[in-house]
Amino acid sequence: MAAHRAIMVGTGGIARSWLERFLPPFAGRLDVVAVVDISDAAREAAGNRLGLPAASRFADMDAAFAAVGRLGVDCCIVTTPPSVHRAAALGAMSAGLAVLSEKPIADTWEATVDIYRAAMRTDTKMQVIQNYRYDPNILTMRGVIESGRLGRVRYAVGRFMRDYRLPLSWGAAFRHEIPHTLLIEGAVHHFDQLRHLTGADCLSVSGVDWRPEGADSFRGECDGLYTLRMTGGAMAQYEGSLVAAGRQQGWHGEYYRVECEGGAVVTDGAANDGVGRVWIEEHDTAKGLTETDVPLVAVQYPGHQAMIAQFADWLDGGPAPPTAIADNIQTAALLFAAIEASETNRVVDVAAKVREARGE
Ligand SMILES: NC(=O)c1ccc[n+]([C@@H]2O[C@H](COP(=O)([O-])OP(=O)(O)OC[C@H]3O[C@@H](n4cnc5c(N)ncnc54)[C@H](O)[C@@H]3O)[C@@H](O)[C@H]2O)c1
Repeated sequence: MAAHRAIMVGTGGIARSWLERFLPPFAGRLDVVAVVDISDAAREAAGNRLGLPAASRFADMDAAFAAVGRLGVDCCIVTTPPSVHRAAALGAMSAGLAVLSEKPIADTWEATVDIYRAAMRTDTKMQVIQNYRYDPNILTMRGVIESGRLGRVRYAVGRFMRDYRLPLSWGAAFRHEIPHTLLIEGAVHHFDQLRHLTGADCLSVSGVDWRPEGADSFRGECDGLYTLRMTGGAMAQYEGSLVAAGRQQGWHGEYYRVECEGGAVVTDGAANDGVGRVWIEEHDTAKGLTETDVPLVAVQYPGHQAMIAQFADWLDGGPAPPTAIADNIQTAALLFAAIEASETNRVVDVAAKVREARGE
């Protein structure tokens, strides 16, 4: 196992969690040795936490990328707002660095395609964070589906409900300001999860996102309802709200139900204090409904940590992770197709968007 050295671009909210919680178990395997942030306060806080010299703290990412030789880095962690992902990912790739980027790949389809094509052209190892795939309840559900106990997947339902009606209650300010904020900052996780749970890609999507009247804490669309047609004959349904005034099914506590030939497997944070309980529902005409709780699988590295471990393994010659950009382009295409579906009131061909990105 080699020791990898990273530049971290963006040292705000989620970056603090990276430095305090996600990265420490990997000290000596993946170390942040330089930080970049346009905010003096954010940059200095991260630099101080890591004990970095002044020459390893940058206000400008291009200056950091120009110093990769001196810094001895081989990878870049991108933790800026999505609107900055293109500059950061392309700059890192130009400097010959592997990239571990927060979701989504970028804030527009055009920027997403630029990053994807650059990664393919330069053969850069780039992985996109989809940490919710590695929650214990989700891995437990996935295990039930993969076991074949319930037969083939027919359709999946995902529900995400969060009350961010207070101004700036959703962490960073940009989340309350950008267009399509539910989709760009939230649903990208849930769409990816629906792909993960069904084991299928999305072929086409229809639906709407909108900002309901009176949802004044947001400038962008903060509610959404979508229907997804998946490969292999499965379907999926998504409901999301950032101004949910009723039952909360928020981060790590989302509701997912996968309907299979022989029964359904369900997780619901609202049913268990925000931590997804998992159960199987099986109906028999004679016996009625049986509900069976499924014990959660033990997970050595949950969420971000699972992905950091995968990234380090990949850099060491291991397999490409499930959310490498070559795969994650499917989630990004679904995200921007959902935006297009809402804007045009049409069913949008997701598979065609993926082919477009690939230049096919
Ligand atoms: N996977 C998850 O669970 C999760 C959770 C939260 C956020 N995120 C993602 O992480 C990313 C960052 O979100 P956040 O909540 O930390 O945002 P944030 O606003 O709290 O932090 C972003 C930081 O980037 C800095 N920045 C902005 N422009 C820059 C530039 N040109 N060069 C260098 N630094 C720049 C800002 O000054 C800020 O300190 C987003 O892509 C978001 O979607 C992921």
